[in-house]
Amino acid sequence: MDIKFIQFQSHGDDRGSLVSLEDHKNIPFTIQRVYYMFDTKENVRRGFHAHKELKQLAIVLKGSCRFLLDDGKEKIELLLDNPEQGLYIESFMWREMYDFSDDCVLMVLADSFYDESDYIRDYNEFTKMVSEK
Ligand code: TYD
Repeated sequence: MDIKFIQFQSHGDDRGSLVSLEDHKNIPFTIQRVYYMFDTKENVRRGFHAHKELKQLAIVLKGSCRFLLDDGKEKIELLLDNPEQGLYIESFMWREMYDFSDDCVLMVLADSFYDESDYIRDYNEFTKMVSEK
C-alpha cells in the first residue's frame, strides 16, 4: 500500500513555527471542510469507516495518535506526531485512530461537506466493495 505523507514547509524562526495550507498548492484538493478532534479520552479508538468518494488529509497539530489504514488488502499502522506532516487518506481506505495523547489535537481537511451517505461503516461491506472494484 502506498502511504502518502505531505511534508509542509515550516516558516520557523526564533519566535516559533508557522505552517500555511493552501488549496492545490500543498493540499492536493479544494478544502471544503475542516474538523478537529481534541480531548479524546484514554483508550478510545475511533474512525471505523471508509469513504466512497471523500479525500482527506490528517494533521496532528499537537501531541500524537496512531492510525490504522486498511485498503482491504493490507493494513498499515502509523504514528502521527509531527504538525509539519499531513497524512493523505484516499477514498476506499478503512481507518481507525487510537493511542491519542492527552494533548492531541487531530485536524482533518476534507474535499467535501459532511455526507453520511458517503460513509462505509461496516467492515464486511467495505471489503466486499473493494473486492468488487
Ligand atoms: P464520527 O463519524 O463518529 O467520528 P469518527 O468516525 O472520526 O470517530 O463523528 C462524530 C459525530 O460528529 C457524528 O455524530 C457525526 C458528526 N460529524 C459532523 O457533524 N460533521 C463532520 O464533519 C464529522 C466528521 C462528524
